[in-house]
Amino acid sequence: MVMEIFSPEYWDRQYQEGKTGWDIGYVSPPIKEYIDQLTDKSLNILVPGAGSAWEVEYLFNNDFKNTFLLDFSAESIRRFRERYPDFPEDHILFEDFFEHTGQYDRIIEQTFITSFPPQHRRAFARKVYELLKPGGKFAGLMFNHEFPFDGPPFGGTKKEYVHLFKEGFVIETMEIAYNSIKPRKGRELFMVLRKKSG
Ligand SMILES: C[S@@+](CC[C@H](N)C(=O)[O-])C[C@H]1O[C@@H](n2cnc3c(N)ncnc32)[C@H](O)[C@@H]1O
Repeated sequence: MVMEIFSPEYWDRQYQEGKTGWDIGYVSPPIKEYIDQLTDKSLNILVPGAGSAWEVEYLFNNDFKNTFLLDFSAESIRRFRERYPDFPEDHILFEDFFEHTGQYDRIIEQTFITSFPPQHRRAFARKVYELLKPGGKFAGLMFNHEFPFDGPPFGGTKKEYVHLFKEGFVIETMEIAYNSIKPRKGRELFMVLRKKSG
């Protein structure tokens, strides 16, 4: 199982078979609220593991025109293109997150990290660090509980996330989201991490 989840074909199948319990069908309220307080529309923003990419759609419709969607599932990208034909093709990054190169002011994600078992998250944190400009920020919404089954999704705890990110980032916010959707109330952490300089 653990090997399979690293392949795009695994994720394609989840979309094709409708096994997309993570997908709430619209931009999640904590991420929406975070976006709504951003004033600089010129920010270079990456949404990795974007899936249906509701956040990308919301950003773009709210004039954040330097927003980029990244996902390695052809099926998720095919669906996004179908839903949003006017989205610029050169802002769709059909590639593996770990292979991507670029420099961003913001990386915004939800439930992407839960695709990876805890022992693989060090690489995730390193990649986020690498892709952010100095002073750039990561805003993420992630589960703060463990699941009673083998993932994905894989859960996590605040303690684990602090340990994971404290080296490279200043933790500006890491709190239980007060505005999660009802089924996830009290079970998600919202975090904003600023890349440390040097
Ligand atoms: C659990 S889904 C979350 C999708 C979306 N963030 C949401 O909340 O609806 C994880 C997504 O990450 C993508 N993914 C997993 N590993 C990836 C990787 N190494 N590079 C790029 N995308 C990846 C999958 O294709 C899938 O669309």
